[in-house]
Amino acid sequence: MLIKSQSGPSLLIAGAALLLFGACGSSSEKEDGASLKLSVLCTVEETWCAAQTAAFQQATGVATTFVRMSSGDAATALRDGKDDPQFSVWWGGSADGYVAAQADGLLEAYVSPNAAAVPTQSKDADGFWTGIYVGALGFCSNTEALDTAGLEAPHSWDDLLDPALLGLVSMAHPASSGTAYTALWTVMTLNDLDEDATFSYFEQLDANIVDYTKSGSAPVQVVADSEAAVGIVFAHDCTAAIAKGATNLQLTFPEQGTGFETGAMAMINGGPDAEAARLWIDWALTAQAQEVGAQAFAFQLPMNPDAKVSELSVDLDSIKLVAYDSAAAGEQRDALSARFEAQFGPKPES
Ligand code: G6P
Repeated sequence: MLIKSQSGPSLLIAGAALLLFGACGSSSEKEDGASLKLSVLCTVEETWCAAQTAAFQQATGVATTFVRMSSGDAATALRDGKDDPQFSVWWGGSADGYVAAQADGLLEAYVSPNAAAVPTQSKDADGFWTGIYVGALGFCSNTEALDTAGLEAPHSWDDLLDPALLGLVSMAHPASSGTAYTALWTVMTLNDLDEDATFSYFEQLDANIVDYTKSGSAPVQVVADSEAAVGIVFAHDCTAAIAKGATNLQLTFPEQGTGFETGAMAMINGGPDAEAARLWIDWALTAQAQEVGAQAFAFQLPMNPDAKVSELSVDLDSIKLVAYDSAAAGEQRDALSARFEAQFGPKPES
């Protein structure tokens, strides 16, 4: 668990930036004059969490700290802390987790004026969560390891079951990782929501899995380090590694369709600093805020149509997507994660 705080806001920059997202019309000072502060539960990559909270602090003057956790762990932390919430907002991670958290009464509704441009299917109608980005699942392969195994890069979910990939596939555990849960629900969707058929697929896949990781992006490093040949990950996490110099990686997509996430954010029910939390949500929906990710090697597609899209982001029109239903995925998240743990072992502790 990482706790980080941003230091030294520049008031001049803060003032200028406030003009940039005038829709929130707030300031960094409470009416009683006390400075605002904000504590963010952050579920994207740590470097992006750091860049995003620093940008917010610079834009508003709100003293902002964050803790980074994978989706499943974030949900557990919110549940455990329900009686005395420590976080004001949860930012990042797939909407599935937010749907599950909402059902547990962990979120507070807030409809930001800046959420109007977010498509209906990418936000909760009552404002319990709001979409900020989109990302698709892909297969991230080590070309040298594939060569050694005498294989081409996978182009279907069934390619991952090839016995030649014994001990050479890496994915996270769905009980700890939103990425892996997206993979589980994708296979559910491809099997017309037949749970037994889905678990029979994962039973076969389990034979090829080297180890279930805790975090969804960890398989990228496992594959880059040649400890596995293929990782089931969000495409943007593979792209980020390639952009950072891992030239032995190749990204492919399953031809029958892949799943995608709506990355979301929400206010925490009963959390501290509600005014700063609303300020964060308003700001996080602006084009400027949604351009921070690409500067931190996060190539998810921004939800705001005015935000500049990195040329390294995947064009979703170029791949086949399944009809991924985040609401249904979220409703079944706890039950399917529990079944996965019962069948394939508990989620990793680290
Ligand atoms: C990707 C997704 C994020 C997700 C992150 C880690 O970057 O875009 O939405 O939060 O992976 O998630 P996970 O829970 O799988 O560790």
